[in-house]
Amino acid sequence: MNQEIQLRDVREADFDIFFVQQQEPAAVHMAAFTAKDPSDRTAFDSHWAKVLADAGVTIQTILYQGAVAGSVLCHRWFGEPEISYWLGEAFWGKGIATAALHEFLSQLPTRPLFARVAQDNIGSLRVLQKCGFLITGEDKGFAAGRGEETAEYILTLPDE
Ligand SMILES: CC(C)(COP(=O)(O)OP(=O)(O)OC[C@H]1O[C@@H](n2cnc3c(N)ncnc32)[C@H](O)[C@@H]1OP(=O)(O)O)[C@@H](O)C(=O)NCCC(=O)NCCS
Repeated sequence: MNQEIQLRDVREADFDIFFVQQQEPAAVHMAAFTAKDPSDRTAFDSHWAKVLADAGVTIQTILYQGAVAGSVLCHRWFGEPEISYWLGEAFWGKGIATAALHEFLSQLPTRPLFARVAQDNIGSLRVLQKCGFLITGEDKGFAAGRGEETAEYILTLPDE
């Protein structure tokens, strides 16, 4: 992996940064399927407490040149193991998500893995496809980040 991009375990101090990053309007629009109210710190803290206590979750903080750029995680909240990630806007467009996901997947042997992405989130779709995910389905649902029903792709990272 690019030496400037690293993964490490999540630390308490990361949360203030994640909280700011989850409120960035362009990111909320892109991701679409987000928290109901990204500025609600109580809901944020309760969500992350559940994430950290959940043995079925694997999560890493993404660092770029030592700074907290975002996070990448695998959860099983809907049954199947599903990948998700989020970068602060200042870190977009540098290949960080692709490199971070590639490294995360090399540490996580679970296959198949799944991901969901709003159909117009071209950046995230590209990140997943560059890491070997294939579009295997479609769905749609109410997206809190947009306040409207939004079409999404379901992607699968198959067994080797
Ligand atoms: C989506 C996101 C993770 C992309 O991160 P990134 O580090 O900028 O992505 P990369 O630099 O690794 O780019 C990967 C590819 O996607 C393309 N890409 C990235 N953002 C793009 C955008 N907004 N529009 C079009 N293409 C985009 C890049 O050009 C690159 O393509 P290439 O390799 O063919 O040149 C980041 O924008 C983000 O965190 N967004 C908000 C949260 C989100 O959407 N999370 C995913 C929910 S499914």
